[in-house]
Amino acid sequence: MQCKMLALITCAILCAFLHSAAGRAVEFAYLGCFVDGSPRDLNGLYGVSRIGPFGVGSSTASNSTAMSREYCADVCSLGGFAYFGVQAGVQCFCGNSYGSHGAVAESNCGSTCSGNAAQKCGGSWRNSVFALTYLS
Ligand SMILES: *[C@@H]1O[C@H](CO)[C@@H](O)[C@H](O)[C@H]1NC(C)=O
Repeated sequence: MQCKMLALITCAILCAFLHSAAGRAVEFAYLGCFVDGSPRDLNGLYGVSRIGPFGVGSSTASNSTAMSREYCADVCSLGGFAYFGVQAGVQCFCGNSYGSHGAVAESNCGSTCSGNAAQKCGGSWRNSVFALTYLS
């Protein structure tokens, strides 16, 4: 009984650690190409300077070499956000709402992701927006 209790407590500590260290298990689904503006459509990172291992500046996590859908999903899932948007190939935005500046034609979101040449990451002031679903 005591042993089982200890195992449960150990798992509670260890599992929480693994969970946060590896990011949360998520799925994401594409919602479309949306206009960005000021204030940012996906506004969840305003005032944030770091999210887990990711540096944040001016409400975006940028990476000139490694941006991809998965990268941005990692960033935004660390904050528990409902949506993420990738922009101009290198930027990642997080938020709990989207679409405040409207939707645009898919052709507006033609920038190649800096970290994955097979993926599109928005465009200039355009977000490719995705919905996050948390599996754990
Ligand atoms: C970009 O991503 C790579 C790979 O994850 C990482 O090593 C690097 O520190 C990141 N750069 C910035 C500015 O976050």
